[in-house]
Amino acid sequence: MSERIVRVIAPAKLNLGLAVVGKRADGYHDLLTIFQTIDLADTLMFRPRTHGIGLGVDGDPTLPLGEDNLIVRAATLLARERGVDQGAEIMVTKRIPAGAGLGGGSSDAAATLLGLETLWGLDADPVLMKRIALELGSDVPFFLTGGTARGEGRGEVLTPLPDPPALGWLLAIPDVRCSTREVFANLEPGLTGSIQKLRILEEAIHHGDVEAFARHIVNDLEPGVVRMQPRLARIREALVRLGAMTVGLTGSGSAMFALFRSQGDIASLLGAGTRLEGARLCACVPVGFGAKVVTEDDDHRHPDPAGR
Ligand code: C5P
Repeated sequence: MSERIVRVIAPAKLNLGLAVVGKRADGYHDLLTIFQTIDLADTLMFRPRTHGIGLGVDGDPTLPLGEDNLIVRAATLLARERGVDQGAEIMVTKRIPAGAGLGGGSSDAAATLLGLETLWGLDADPVLMKRIALELGSDVPFFLTGGTARGEGRGEVLTPLPDPPALGWLLAIPDVRCSTREVFANLEPGLTGSIQKLRILEEAIHHGDVEAFARHIVNDLEPGVVRMQPRLARIREALVRLGAMTVGLTGSGSAMFALFRSQGDIASLLGAGTRLEGARLCACVPVGFGAKVVTEDDDHRHPDPAGR
């Protein structure tokens, strides 16, 4: 009998808009955000094992392999919650850079929940999955479904939205990492008008209004992130000089995304390994799914836009 392998794709996300609504008693912040999954993705492979969780990583030598890895924590928590007495061997191929606000760790955690649900033959229980996901991190519930969605609360109260307008999407990934905890800790409260901007951004998505969409990309975390990493301001300026209609920061950074009128505009800017102010540039495309179990055929339909 051939060995059973479950393959899962774990896409990265952008926050097309992010407004901080207020600080909560539990130390987290209530947010209003619009999430979007993109075709930059990690892949995970799960194999049966009698006991315990084994993790191997390809593509990021800095990733911890023990209990502080979100993949291991997701597997351990799922096994405990569902009373599973089997183990699993997990191999992750990392393409989503860490500390970039692209949600790689969170997407890997959601992928682990879905992959092990399949490997261990568990009955699907979406409500329990969502609760376990939120215990692992604020963005993990979004990755169970992905696509385009409004996120409220910590980001786990999700409302699906239509696809964003068809544009050219360019990612700029600086080689600096931002700590989400630190960025939220350095947040300066103030009236930013961003909640209203987010509402208009959502309306623009509903109506496919490209101009309004581009004008209302906003992130309340950006001023604090730029104070910590002034280089991001130079990357923003350079992207505007290249002709971007708008530039946004995803999550707590450090990655930025720029919107151009068409994918053709981006293709003409990119050569092999193109860099801008020390940031790696790559094209990306919004996708309509989150972490998902794939067949080999599916997997080949999602080439890595970063070319790694
Ligand atoms: O939930 P997660 O572990 O991803 O969050 C990391 C840190 O970011 C939290 O410990 C918290 O300091 C901050 N955070 C927040 N409000 C959110 C999400 C994250 O304050 N909605």
